[in-house]
Amino acid sequence: MTITRVGVVGAGLMGSGIAEVLARAGLDVVVRDINDEAVAAGRGRITASLDKGVSRGKLTAEARDAALASLTFTTEIARMADRQLVIEAASENEDIKKAIFAELDSYVTDPDAILASNTSSMPIIRFAQATSRPDRVLGLHFFNPAPVQPLVEIISSVVTDPAVADTMEQFTTQVLGKSPIRADDRPGFVVNALLVPYLFSAIRMLENGYASKEDIDAGMRNGCAHPMGPIRLSDVVGLDTLYFIGVSMFEETGDPAHKPPLLLSRMVDAGMMGKKSGRGFYDDY
Ligand code: 3HC
Repeated sequence: MTITRVGVVGAGLMGSGIAEVLARAGLDVVVRDINDEAVAAGRGRITASLDKGVSRGKLTAEARDAALASLTFTTEIARMADRQLVIEAASENEDIKKAIFAELDSYVTDPDAILASNTSSMPIIRFAQATSRPDRVLGLHFFNPAPVQPLVEIISSVVTDPAVADTMEQFTTQVLGKSPIRADDRPGFVVNALLVPYLFSAIRMLENGYASKEDIDAGMRNGCAHPMGPIRLSDVVGLDTLYFIGVSMFEETGDPAHKPPLLLSRMVDAGMMGKKSGRGFYDDY
């Protein structure tokens, strides 16, 4: 199966990053979000990132223009009808995601099409069960910023056809130039199962007055060679996203390490979503 027509549902931080990766790989990409404002914001994010890629010498101006030309933005999910692969990248809300999978199931005509979720932590099987083709559903979890991070987690549910996961391994490697890993359909898969307790520990350290946010971050940057410290990284992931990942993981595992810290919950209530909203633990965005 040669995949050339792809779709992305959700033009937020991750959806726009994934759409950019697909467009840069020369694919025909349809990006859908629910209203004109969300679509315009997604288009703006992709354009800014492509421009940054040009200014960093990562792609030519011609490649940027070609990528932009291969993207179609829409508010209509029916435009996914002829897609061979659709990646859902809506917000981390199980009911919203299930509804999207049910809609994709009714619109996407090719029975061999693959339906993927970029969920950070939710059980893939629940989205698979919202469709009439659960064996064609799997997780494809990209990392932020998607155009820069090489990793994609490929998550098979208990009923995913192994050939679908193999196809996605080939696709992410050969077409997208990514470095995929396989993960089981468990809370947080591989990376967030390790990362989320770490970020939450850092936020609890801050909450409990162990050290300033600057010193916590400098500690991990300068002591462990991380490109950014955990407090800054929480802002980059998005505080609402991080909160919802924790809620979902804690609901399944009951592990206190997965319970969102109170400070995080209060900041989300205050509308402080991190870098994407201009204000989180830091406000220099
Ligand atoms: N297109 C192409 N390349 C780009 C680019 C773009 N739009 N933007 C940046 N780059 C390239 C740069 O050219 C540079 O490449 P080089 O090292 O070969 O020169 C590299 O990416 C780094 O970019 P910058 O110099 O602009 O910025 P920094 O060096 O400050 O790095 C960062 C920024 C890449 C965000 C880095 O700080 C980093 O990797 N941070 C950690 C991010 C992380 O951990 N992400 C995972 C989050 S967890 C997640 O997403 C899962 C979810 O479920 C929670």
